Amino acid sequence: MASKIAIASLIALSAASEGLRPWEAPGPDDLRSPCPMLNTLANHGYLPHNGRNISAQQFADAALEVVNIDGMAIKQVANYFLRAANQSFIDLTDLNRPGILQHIASLTRDDVKDPDSVDVSASQDRIHHLIQDSDTDCITVASLAKTRLHVEDLSSPQELTVKEQSLAYVEAGLLLLVMNDGPVPSGWSFPPATAYCAPKKRVETWLTEERFPEELGWKKSERTLGLVDFVPVIKGIFEEKRLQAGKGPLWKSFIPSFLQQETDTNSEL
Ligand code: HEM
Ligand SMILES: *[C@@H]1O[C@H](CO)[C@@H](O)[C@H](O)[C@H]1NC(C)=O
Ligand SMILES: *[C@@H]1O[C@H](CO)[C@@H](O)[C@H](O)[C@H]1NC(C)=O
Repeated sequence: MASKIAIASLIALSAASEGLRPWEAPGPDDLRSPCPMLNTLANHGYLPHNGRNISAQQFADAALEVVNIDGMAIKQVANYFLRAANQSFIDLTDLNRPGILQHIASLTRDDVKDPDSVDVSASQDRIHHLIQDSDTDCITVASLAKTRLHVEDLSSPQELTVKEQSLAYVEAGLLLLVMNDGPVPSGWSFPPATAYCAPKKRVETWLTEERFPEELGWKKSERTLGLVDFVPVIKGIFEEKRLQAGKGPLWKSFIPSFLQQETDTNSEL
């Protein structure tokens, strides 16, 4: 009995020294969003656990403290939504409103058909697919490109707008950087697309349970991640997608296809 208590307090102590607040599943009256990270922050109590009445500053503070992502950038995203929704405080379910940030062809959520939908649950099928799209132990730039193509196929013939496409790239980048194994390479060092690895088990646990998978080695980045750190990843996913879709390098898309055929024929002669 005494040893049980000792073990329990040891666990509590080690949790305290790691500095993460304990995870608690959302209750029946708690609201959640279509964003896996905001839900995780609420589940760990860094955003109100009930998911209600949250300001842009609260989003930014939580993301900076726990994930170490540039607070100004996060505040801008949050403010963009708040302004469009004409609110100073939002409930997490508000983020499910289509056409502001929420969009079709998500990595983990089925398309929302009803604009008032409060169903923000992740699709186990989609998470499974995202994991299976990589044949290594890592989610990578290449596997995310494959997943993006797959989910865009699922939504077809509906297509993402240009703005939504950019959001989708940023979100895929967030996933990879936040779950990356080891320090995230600086965007200024022009790392190759292969420099990133988000261990599958970590990503799966995070997305399924919406909790920080500390026992799988997850740690917040020691360096504050800024916009420039996303550039190599977004560029990588963009280029990989084109390659995998058989579209070839970007420069080809600027050359009319009849000219491309001409060049191909010439080179055969
Ligand atoms: C550390 C900060 C954040 C991280 C790591 C993060 C991560 C992600 C990821 C990976 C997705 C894609 C999910 C999917 O495609 O299924 C996503 C979606 C989303 N995020 Fe976040 N997010 C962050 C902050 C925010 C903030 C501040 C907001 C707004 C207040 C926000 C709102 C959304 C929304 C509305 C979606 C749904 C988009 C969709 O329809 O798929 N996120 N986020
Ligand atoms: C939301 O939070 C603000 C600031 O903390 C507070 O003034 C307001 O009364 C709250 N609204 C509700 C409905 O709880
Ligand atoms: C925004 O909110 C203000 C104050 O509540 C209100 O007067 C205004 O009509 C709202 N605008 C829109 C577009 O909903």
